[in-house]
Amino acid sequence: HRHLLGIEPLRPDEITTLLDLADQYATYNRGRDKNAQALAGMTQINMFFENSTRTQASFELAGKRLGADVMNMAMQASSIKKGETLIDTALTLNAMHPDLLVVRHPHSGAVDLLAQKVNCAVLNAGDGRHEHPTQALLDALTIRRAKGRLHRLTIAICGDVAHSRVARSNLLLLHKMENRIRLVGPPTLMPAGIDAFGAEVYDDMREGLRDADVVMMLRLQKERMDGGFIPSEREYYHRYGLDAEKLSHAKPDAIVMHPGPMNRGVEIDGTIADDINRSVIQDQVEMGVAVRMAAMDLLARNLRARPKTVMV
Ligand code: CP
Repeated sequence: HRHLLGIEPLRPDEITTLLDLADQYATYNRGRDKNAQALAGMTQINMFFENSTRTQASFELAGKRLGADVMNMAMQASSIKKGETLIDTALTLNAMHPDLLVVRHPHSGAVDLLAQKVNCAVLNAGDGRHEHPTQALLDALTIRRAKGRLHRLTIAICGDVAHSRVARSNLLLLHKMENRIRLVGPPTLMPAGIDAFGAEVYDDMREGLRDADVVMMLRLQKERMDGGFIPSEREYYHRYGLDAEKLSHAKPDAIVMHPGPMNRGVEIDGTIADDINRSVIQDQVEMGVAVRMAAMDLLARNLRARPKTVMV
């Protein structure tokens, strides 16, 4: 692949190859002597048109750990504010010959469109409600390391599925890897036709979590609810917030996940989030760096195999 725009085009064996490499980088990242050079001589530009803590920081760190020159565009201070379009901005940066562009954008499909206009590799760091492929890959690696496998698991994805690119990418990936997927949440936060991916849909947390191996919580994304129904946080927590009682319906060794940022006391009880015997939330963050290193390493191998135009 030339770009990483989503999970949709990836085959199961390609996902496994990427996770195997990321697993090696996870071990490497724990060591003290970090001088990998997979991106040496390459330029990586991060363009985040939406806020981010985890994704932006880990893409930056991943690029630096692999020897790339990394530039974070301060989009709030860019000429986008003067009316320059996304495509003109991308073409401008493309003319500076970056090798990797990492892009987050509030509109679904914006990153795909941008990828058609530039001749570097583009990585989708989240576009609207569409996809967040590196999040699904880091979630997959976290599950595989915790459970010892990534197939035939019962995985409950809970909460605001309708507005979640994390849910969509996870659904695609976990379905490709032959897991049993349950979507649990209020019907108002379930997109129509979602069970087309083979998922079972529940609006009762206790039923949805019964005997689950993995409980993946999602953030209530109020910023994407533009004028639609917004549940009261108290009522939402009562019915859909993960607490010890609801978690007791999952398997005794079920792991708890959350992509972050978390709303403690809304979709998850802070005590559960911090319980190192159940919660793998910090492991997800750690795997985020390793997965992004693997994704950029694999795309860089393709870039090196392609002839580059050199001006003399
Ligand atoms: N999980 C995730 O995408 O977090 P950020 O929005 O902080 O990058």
